[in-house]
Amino acid sequence: MVYYNILIEETGETFRCSPQESLLVGMERLGKKGIPVGCRGGGCGVCKVEITAGTYVSRVMSREYVSVEDEAAGRVLACRVRPSSDITLKVLGKMAKNVCRPLAVPAGTPATL
Ligand code: FES
Repeated sequence: MVYYNILIEETGETFRCSPQESLLVGMERLGKKGIPVGCRGGGCGVCKVEITAGTYVSRVMSREYVSVEDEAAGRVLACRVRPSSDITLKVLGKMAKNVCRPLAVPAGTPATL
């Protein structure tokens, strides 16, 4: 099976995603807490990302969340987009708040970063 590498610009993390699955499904495999998964059908807008490099195939997305300008700028709903090459993306809105949140460090752990 073919897999493409998807890079999340803000965190430097990558995940693999096949052309048969949506970017959201691939991202969920990162196992990050708080990845907002809503309707999975392009209708709630929580999974909005901006594709900054790479090619993809998108399915119908609600204009309420993705305007014509958004779509032209690569701002799409991750649950409606499948990769057709390696991709670099930025997470937007609610997604950014959760994905970019540092993982909780247990109290008393020395700071190593
Ligand atoms: S999960 Fe609802 S729009 Fe993507």
